[in-house]
Amino acid sequence: MKTDFLIIGSGIAGLTYALKVAQACPDKTVTILTKTQSDETNTKYAQGGIAGVMKVGDDSFDKHIEDTLIAGDGLCNEAVVDFVVKEGVERIEEIIEWGAQFDKEPDGDFKLGKEGGHSESRILHHKDITGKEMERALLEAIKKCNNIKLISHCFVLDLITQHHIGYLVTKSTPDTECYGVYVLNLHTRKIEKIISRIILLATGGNGQVYRTTTNPSIATGDGVAMVYRAKGRIENMEFIQFHPTALYESGVKGYSFLITEAVRGEGGILRNSEGIAFMEKYDSRKDLAPRDIVARAIDNEMKINGTEFVFLDCREIPTDKFKEHFPNIYEKCFNIGIDVSKDMIPVAPAAHYSCGGIKTDEWGRTSIKHLYASGECASTGLHGANRLASNSLLEAMVFSHRSYVKSVKEIENTSFKNNIPDWNAAGTTAPKEMILITQSVKELKLLMSDYVGIVRNNERLQRASRRLDLLHQETETLYQKTEVSPQLCELRNMITIAYLIVKSAELRKESRGLHYNIDFINQDSILQNTIL
Ligand code: FAD
Ligand code: SIN
Repeated sequence: MKTDFLIIGSGIAGLTYALKVAQACPDKTVTILTKTQSDETNTKYAQGGIAGVMKVGDDSFDKHIEDTLIAGDGLCNEAVVDFVVKEGVERIEEIIEWGAQFDKEPDGDFKLGKEGGHSESRILHHKDITGKEMERALLEAIKKCNNIKLISHCFVLDLITQHHIGYLVTKSTPDTECYGVYVLNLHTRKIEKIISRIILLATGGNGQVYRTTTNPSIATGDGVAMVYRAKGRIENMEFIQFHPTALYESGVKGYSFLITEAVRGEGGILRNSEGIAFMEKYDSRKDLAPRDIVARAIDNEMKINGTEFVFLDCREIPTDKFKEHFPNIYEKCFNIGIDVSKDMIPVAPAAHYSCGGIKTDEWGRTSIKHLYASGECASTGLHGANRLASNSLLEAMVFSHRSYVKSVKEIENTSFKNNIPDWNAAGTTAPKEMILITQSVKELKLLMSDYVGIVRNNERLQRASRRLDLLHQETETLYQKTEVSPQLCELRNMITIAYLIVKSAELRKESRGLHYNIDFINQDSILQNTIL
C-alpha cells in the first residue's frame, strides 16, 4: 500500500494533523492507523481540560508562560513555551469550529477550571469528559474528508529506513530516512508494508510500563521504542509524571480511574488516614501545588502511615456543583459505594504522563528525515522536567499544526521509495505459551513501580537495570523464533521504554522536577536534557 501522508495514532495529535493535511492537499491520500478501536486513546480519557488564555482579564500569556516554566523546573525550552501558549488560543478556536464544545457560563464566557501549578483559572473543559468530547468532534470531522482513510486494528511493528534496504544505520548516520512502516493487520493477521512520503508518529504515552496507571492498555510507548530501534533521538525519559489522585480500588489492577485535579481546584482537600489535611506541611500552595510535589507528599504520607492510599475530601463542595462539573466521577464513585457528599474518596498516585519522548525541533521534525512526531510520544521542549496540568492537549494541537505546515511543503520534494523488501518472518513459529509473555509483562510493571517510581535512589535503579537486562535477553530470544503478535511486540516495546527511563534516570545526577533521587538531593544543578 502507498499513501502520501501516513499517521500512526488516532488521538488528538494524529487526528488534528490528518485533518489539516487532508484539507490543505485534497489531491493527496492520507491514512491513519490505530492499533485497536479508533477512539481508544489516552485522549478519550482526558478529564480536566485544556489550558488556554482565552480572554484578557486577570489572566495573561505571561502568567501561563511563567506557570509552565515554574512547573518545568528549569528544563523547558522558553521559545517553545512562548509559542505554544500564544498559538494555542488559535488551535482551541479551531477545534471549536470543528465541533468540540466546552462548558460556558450563562453570559456566554467559557467556564474556566483551575488545576495544580496554575496561578489563574484557565482550564476549558467539557464537564469531566473533555477528551471524549474532543475525540468525538475530531472523528466526526475526519469522516467528512474523502481523502482520509482510517484503518483500525492495524498494529505498527517498525519504521522502514535504509536499514531495511541493506545499509548500516547508526546513531551517527547523518541522513537516516523513513520510508514507511511494517504493520500487523489484525483483520487478516498478515504483515504488510505501507510506503509513504511523510510519516507522523502520534502514538501517545507509556503508562502501561507501571503497575498502576491512569492510561488505557494502548499506552505502551510503541512509537518511542520504534524510533529508538531506528536509531533516532529520544530525550528526557526519566520524567514520568505520576498523577496524585487516581481512585484507589482494592483488587483492581492495571488501569486506574482518574479523579481530576480540577476537583482540588473546586475545593477538594487531601487528608491522610487520620483525617489530617497534610499538604500545607509540604508546600505553601497546598493541594494545588504542582503534581510532582503533591504526588511525593502523598507517597510520603502513605509510607509514614503504612497505607496504600490517602483521602480526597470533597464534602465541602456543594453536591449540585460537584454533579454538574464532575458527573462522570460522581457516578463512578456512587457505583462503588462512595457518596462524595458524605464519604471521602480513597486515592493514590498512578503513572500518568511521559514528559520525554521522541526529540523534535520546533516544527515537530524528528532526527529521522520525513518523520514527524506530535503529542505525548514527542519531546518538544514544552514540559521540561514536569508538565503543567492540561498543557498536553494544547501541545498536541500546536505541534500537529506546526508539523502540518512543514510537511505540506516537504511533500512536494519527497517521492515514494521503491524496492522495499517484505517483512522477513523466516524461522518463526506460532507462540506455544502466552504465559511467557504475560508473566514478563507483570515482572516489568512490578520492577518499574518498585524501583523506578516517584522516589528513586541509585541502588534501586541498578537493581532495575539488572532485572531489565534479563527480561530483555529472554524477550529477544522469544522474538527471534516466534510469530509476531501485539502482545509480544508491546512487551518488547515496554522493555525498551523501561530501559530508556532507567538509563536516563541513571544519567541524571541530580533531583529535578519529576525525577527525585534521594542520593542527589542537594547536588549542583545540571541544566541539561538527557539524550539517548
Ligand atoms: P493518544 O491519544 O494516546 O493516541 C495514541 C494513538 O496511537 C492511539 O490511536 C493508538 O492506537 C495509537 N498507537 C499506539 N501505538 C500504536 C501502534 N504500534 N500501532 C498503531 N497505532 C498505535 N491532558 C490534558 O492536557 N488535559 C487533561 O485533562 C488530561 N487528562 C488526562 C486524563 C487521563 C486519564 C489521561 C490518561 C491523560 C490525560 N491527559 C490530559 C494527557 C492527554 O490526554 C494525553 O497526553 C494526550 O491525549 C495524548 O494524545 P496523543 O494523540 O499523543 O496520543
Ligand atoms: C486531570 O484532569 O487532573 C488531568 C489533567 C492533565 O493530565 O493534564
